[in-house]
Amino acid sequence: MNNILITGGAGFIGSTLANFYSKNHQVIVVDDLSMGNKNNLDHSDNIRFIEGSVTDFSLMEELLKTNQFDYIFHLAAVASVADSVERPVETHQVNFDSVFQLLELIRAHQADLKRLVFTSSAAVYGDEPTLPKAEESVIRPLTPYAIDKFAAEKYVVDYYHLYQIPTSAVRFFNVYGPKQNPESPYSGVISIIMDRYKKLLNKEETSFTMFGDGSQSRDFVFIEDVVQALDLVATSNASLGEVYNVGTGTAINLNDLVATLDELLASELPVQNQPERSGDIKYSLADISKIKAIGYEPKHTIKAGLEKYVSYELAQEKSDL
Ligand code: NAD
Ligand code: UD1
Repeated sequence: MNNILITGGAGFIGSTLANFYSKNHQVIVVDDLSMGNKNNLDHSDNIRFIEGSVTDFSLMEELLKTNQFDYIFHLAAVASVADSVERPVETHQVNFDSVFQLLELIRAHQADLKRLVFTSSAAVYGDEPTLPKAEESVIRPLTPYAIDKFAAEKYVVDYYHLYQIPTSAVRFFNVYGPKQNPESPYSGVISIIMDRYKKLLNKEETSFTMFGDGSQSRDFVFIEDVVQALDLVATSNASLGEVYNVGTGTAINLNDLVATLDELLASELPVQNQPERSGDIKYSLADISKIKAIGYEPKHTIKAGLEKYVSYELAQEKSDL
């Protein structure tokens, strides 16, 4: 049984990972609940929840002094690109400073750590037009979020080379699935679209605001494939000091995404177009050869992932009635 720390573990990806590991391991979750929700976590004796911020030095120092972890997944972040453009100073403290602080605390107190996995982002590639993006592609971060992710990722990898701290980083493309919080205007686009469909099915007046003409595309990856990738990167020897793309290798544009969901839900979501967001990336697509070489195989096409997500949401709606 391993001892696992997951920061941001009440959020979308973190809670799914915490629930997955809690079947066989002890998990400690730290989350300030700014976007996450305690109810995302299973009721399990193997999960201990701590409400607090990863920027709180005393909290993190105490935690790392008094526990010896086998694995640490650092997911706590302000995950919205647009929010980082609005609040560059606040988001920098979470998205960069907390990572640097964590590395130093690990150096001081976690001699037996097997792996720190840091979650970076495809946003680091920016708008350089060559596709697909491989790990060695041109890096051109456009926003505070992307700059912080890239700088943090570099430190994470460098701490392996300089101090032999076992680290790895992943660059997620666009992750979607159950438990992604749709409440903020900065939430992941599929969670927002799903929320609007639910309103439509409940006969409430609603529409989806599309920034731009809908021709922008993303490599959307289903949450179950992301958990598979995180587990693989954490436990593989080849991944020490390495960075990996996590996507599917296929992209879809927003217009086609809405059309696919219209078909799946046999409805027609009203769409209103607004000017595109500043700092928005036009096209994004992952080259996943590197992570495939350590055994990753995404199991969900966008259609298969959306089908699972839709059935989950419809089942939730029924149980809420
Ligand atoms: P999320 O917002 O659901 O999860 C982030 C969690 O961190 C939330 O529960 C939030 O409450 C918590 N948090 C925020 N600030 C905190 C702080 N100061 N202290 C403690 N907890 C704090 O987002 P997610 O989609 O689950 O993202 C998880 C990680 O993956 C993030 O680092 C994000 O940048 C990265 N990522 C996500 C995507 C995606 O498409 N969802 C893509 C690339 C990278
Ligand atoms: C997302 C992630 C980010 C991650 C990046 C990696 C979130 C909130 N963001 O950013 O953490 O690092 O992928 O690729 O999880 N859009 C609309 N209407 C809306 C919301 C969004 O049209 O209501 C558009 C956006 O302008 C954008 C696209 O949908 O063109 C995707 O937006 P979003 O889901 O916020 O993702 P990214 O910005 O790609």
